[in-house]
Amino acid sequence: MSLQTQIDMTKLPQHIAIIMDGNGRWAKQHNKPRVFGHQNGVKAVRQVTEGAAELGVKHLTLYAFSQENWKRPKFEVNTLMKLFVKTVEKELDTLNNNSIKLNAIGDLENLPKDTYKALLRGMESTQDNNRMTLHLALNYSSRWEIMNATKRIAREYKEGLLTEDQINDELMSQYLTTSGIPDPELMIRSSGEHRISNYLLWQLSYSELYFTDVLWPDFSKEDLYAAIISYQNRERRFGMTGDQLIKS
Ligand code: FPP
Repeated sequence: MSLQTQIDMTKLPQHIAIIMDGNGRWAKQHNKPRVFGHQNGVKAVRQVTEGAAELGVKHLTLYAFSQENWKRPKFEVNTLMKLFVKTVEKELDTLNNNSIKLNAIGDLENLPKDTYKALLRGMESTQDNNRMTLHLALNYSSRWEIMNATKRIAREYKEGLLTEDQINDELMSQYLTTSGIPDPELMIRSSGEHRISNYLLWQLSYSELYFTDVLWPDFSKEDLYAAIISYQNRERRFGMTGDQLIKS
């Protein structure tokens, strides 16, 4: 029986963030080049997007390309960039038919022109959809994001637009690329690696972390359900004691 039946729909995370890892190892296991893993990773992207939307999750963020990923072989980087364009274009109708809005976070303007343009087209064409937002983290780095927010705050403070008292948690969140998006309650990483890898460092402060050995191209809706069930069985204390939580 599907694990879906065990999900408590009253305790669904609003925002799930995922580090899609293991494409290269999956390809190696199949005696294929690394890019074959990325191509098959798209199937898993489809599965989790569909699975999350069906459940009623409001935000799904996928780490598709980090600023560190530019260090990979040129062929792999070029193939990934083309794959992003192709996938966005190919999936647009499905996104619209399912009322899924596409968003991208990261240093988008420094992506190859074709990739940037495809993303803009995708975001524009889906902007009125409201069932779920799929955020793609592309050319993303959390340190870059926090640094940019800090620079903007410093500038506005210097210009007298902000006072020191106004600089708090909430303001900082508003200056990040995820402004207006609730923090993820759950972060999933596939492929058995236990790292955050410069991903949403501010936003994941109180998130539950879930690690699975499944390699990304094999990640299915059932794996998503397993992660949600694990999240629902945890006690989120936000610095309080368990007793305090029971009373509140
Ligand atoms: C990490 O696996 C994966 C990536 C850096 C790229 C993720 C891209 C996709 C899943 C393709 C499609 C995505 C979208 C949003 C259209 P890895 O290459 O680091 O695997 P390894 O650790 O086994 O080498």
